Amino acid sequence: MKNIVVLVSGGGTNLQALIDAQHSGKITGGAITCVISSNPNAYALERAAKNGIATEVIRRKDFASFDEYDTALTELLKKKQADLVVLAGFMTILGKRVIQAFENRIINIHPALIPSFCGEGYYGLRVHEEALKKGVKVTGATAHFVNEICDGGPIIIQRAVEIKSGDTPEILQRRVMEQAEWHILPQAVNLFCNDKIKVIGNTTEILE
Ligand code: GRF
Repeated sequence: MKNIVVLVSGGGTNLQALIDAQHSGKITGGAITCVISSNPNAYALERAAKNGIATEVIRRKDFASFDEYDTALTELLKKKQADLVVLAGFMTILGKRVIQAFENRIINIHPALIPSFCGEGYYGLRVHEEALKKGVKVTGATAHFVNEICDGGPIIIQRAVEIKSGDTPEILQRRVMEQAEWHILPQAVNLFCNDKIKVIGNTTEILE
C-alpha cells in the first residue's frame, strides 16, 4: 500500500473526491495517510479529520526564508513516509528541494487543458477568467506530475469541458471541477498507486 499525502489550502473538494474514491474502491494500492495544509483555517482540514486522516499545518510565513520552508516541507513529507504527494488546491509554490526529492511522485490538478491557461499567475478563478476572455469553446482539467517548470511536468490525464454561453468564471470553475477535476485526479492517483504510469522524458504512457 502506498502512502498518499495530500497538500491543500482551501475548501478541499478535490481532497473530498479522493476520500470518496478511496471509500468506494476507485483508488486501490494506496491510502491517504495525511493531509497537510498551508492554511490553518482550511475547511479541507475538517474533511480530513471527519475521515480519521492525520493533519498537519505548514505555513510559509513561519519560516525566515523560502529555502528553510522548502527544507521543512521536504522533511515533513519524508517523516510521513509519503510515496505520493498530491497537490489538491495547494496555493504555495513548491521549492526545488521538495520537487527533486519527490521527482515524478507529486501530482497536481490544474483547471485547464495544459498548455493553455497555465504557468505563473494562472491559478484559481484567473484561469477561467482568461479562458472566457479568449473565447475558447472548450476548456478542461489536467492531472500532471510536478517538475521545476510551473505546470510544465509530464501530463497524466486530461478531460475536456464545454464552455456555454452565459458562463461566468465561477460557473465555469464549478463545471470544470464537477465534470473533470473530481474524476481525473482520483484516476491519476489510482494509476500511480498501481504502478500504471510510465514516465518517458516529459510525457507519460498509461500501462494497461
Ligand atoms: C481547484 O480548482 C484546483 O484545480 C485548483 O484549486 C482549486 C481547489 O479547490 N488548483 P478545492 O480546494 O479542491 O475545493
